[in-house]
Amino acid sequence: MKSIGFIGAGNMGSAIGQGLRTAHPDLSISFYDLDGSKSEQSAKDCHGRVCGSYEELFSAAQVLVIAVKPQHLNSLFSEIQQLSEGREFISIVAGKPIRLFTEQLQTNKVIRFMPNLAAKVGESVVGISAVDGLEAEFRETAFEAARAIGMPVELPEELMPAITGLSGSGIAYVFAFLHAMALGGTDAGFSYSQALEIAYATCRGAVKVLRSEGVGPAEYLTRVTSAGGTTIKGIKALEEGGLTPTVMEAIQAAAQRAREIENEL
Ligand SMILES: NC(=O)c1ccc[n+]([C@@H]2O[C@H](COP(=O)([O-])OP(=O)(O)OC[C@H]3O[C@@H](n4cnc5c(N)ncnc54)[C@H](OP(=O)(O)O)[C@@H]3O)[C@@H](O)[C@H]2O)c1
Repeated sequence: MKSIGFIGAGNMGSAIGQGLRTAHPDLSISFYDLDGSKSEQSAKDCHGRVCGSYEELFSAAQVLVIAVKPQHLNSLFSEIQQLSEGREFISIVAGKPIRLFTEQLQTNKVIRFMPNLAAKVGESVVGISAVDGLEAEFRETAFEAARAIGMPVELPEELMPAITGLSGSGIAYVFAFLHAMALGGTDAGFSYSQALEIAYATCRGAVKVLRSEGVGPAEYLTRVTSAGGTTIKGIKALEEGGLTPTVMEAIQAAAQRAREIENEL
């Protein structure tokens, strides 16, 4: 696989670096961050290399991953414009379209990813958009990187906000649900830590059983709710609290915010 260099060694740069390292023990991974201590920490976490300048990073890596916050892009562009012509980039920046990078960086070799934090353990959904006619070798490298950190889902760029709402931000809704289950378990008599372990195992088991039988969650839900039993009482309480519309609204709200950012060019 081609060597990878991260511009930005924060949460996501570091997480993707760790996921790549697990899948590709011999891969060359480099980091450059304005904050040198973050480059050092990320490099340490995935046995990568610390670069002290953009020049060093662009020499060390064939593919550059842009992993800075959207509000830092303009200053980044002015710093790397001299180095970027014809180079290969993967952008993970939420809400910023491919055309912004191709125009600013003078290259048509740009792929857009929407991963989430589970990249760190190789379990991220990775929304991928690429322009038509992208060079096959670079495209394959990008998909190989996406497979290393989880499950690639190729989609048209207009669906990037939707996958941001469903998965990029959506992983946080799962964290929120697990926390809520653990609080409920605490209320019912367990310690928080024990309730959380039980919640993890319950969620893991739920996904596994659905996967093993190829049955959808709605069908399984009706199978486990016996007449007048405990589960239907819990489901009733969830729906009275607005679970379904609230989760739907959360995904749409995040997707809408991603669309707004997309238009704030
Ligand atoms: N977090 C998520 O779950 C998630 C999921 C999907 C996509 N994303 C996208 O991933 C990107 C990174 O997010 P993050 O959470 O990893 O952010 P982060 O933790 O703030 O990391 C970004 C890093 O880039 C550094 N930086 C800023 N400008 C730079 C420059 N010109 N050159 C080199 N380094 C620079 C920042 O330094 P300073 O702190 O000193 O500014 C920071 O260390 C964002 O665009 C976000 O939209 C995030």
